[in-house]
Amino acid sequence: MKSPTGSTTPTDAARFDLGRLEAETFAAEIAYRPEVPSTNDWALELAHEGGHRLPFLVLASQQTQGRGRGTNRWWSAPGALTFSLLLDSTAVLPDIHALPQVSVVTALAVCEALGSLAPGQPVGLKWPNDVLLGRCKLCGILVESPARPPDRLVIGIGINVNNSFAEAPDDVRQRAASLADATGRPWALTDVLLRVLRAAEQQFASLQAGRVRLSEACRPWCVLSGRAVTVVAGRGRIEGVCTGIGDDGALVVRVGESERRVFSGVVEAIR
Ligand code: BTN
Repeated sequence: MKSPTGSTTPTDAARFDLGRLEAETFAAEIAYRPEVPSTNDWALELAHEGGHRLPFLVLASQQTQGRGRGTNRWWSAPGALTFSLLLDSTAVLPDIHALPQVSVVTALAVCEALGSLAPGQPVGLKWPNDVLLGRCKLCGILVESPARPPDRLVIGIGINVNNSFAEAPDDVRQRAASLADATGRPWALTDVLLRVLRAAEQQFASLQAGRVRLSEACRPWCVLSGRAVTVVAGRGRIEGVCTGIGDDGALVVRVGESERRVFSGVVEAIR
């Protein structure tokens, strides 16, 4: 075992095969706890602490205060997959300007992994970092870069795998779906995580090497392409037709005769 941090119980071990994750993925160190407030918060603490081998996989069976983008919460129930990767940003990014691409390549990795587990299902990427099943959210991604230490990235990923939404708040219940819903069967969380980590390793290596052509790679997955969208970016709103995702990770929106490239924002309306 690569120095797993935290406590485990036999029940927990049955949930995640840490030995396989260690042997079969690019994680150099793994930490597991049955329950934490947020794996992203935990990974940020570990980044601050320093001295860990990266990539560091930070994993929990349950989060009590999962965070989403902005001030959003991330609701999850037992059976969901919630984890964060603590990375050396220089091992992922060719340069700091590539930061907007990280969310997109991560979402792409999740699309590839879940698409391969649910062939024929409408798995898609909603820029910049959501993975959908049809119109419902299957996965959310939260990328954070701590001020200190520099050169660290935390990528948090929440995937609805086997979790039920029976106890979820109304808005979540109406807008979320799970892999088990899509495929009609439960999944071993370790198997799903292995797929996602393998796909992420490849995407990060390609990004670092400058080999990713995001516009092309996203084409089969981008659910916004060809749709009329409203993007809230800072205090502004951009309304137009999405023509895809650029190689730089920007959402490309045609507004009248001109083209706008949005690097950060929330797509509020899709028509
Ligand atoms: C979003 O859709 O707004 C992003 C959701 C990200 C959720 C994941 S779950 C694991 C990690 N820990 C967190 O607190 N958030 C991310």
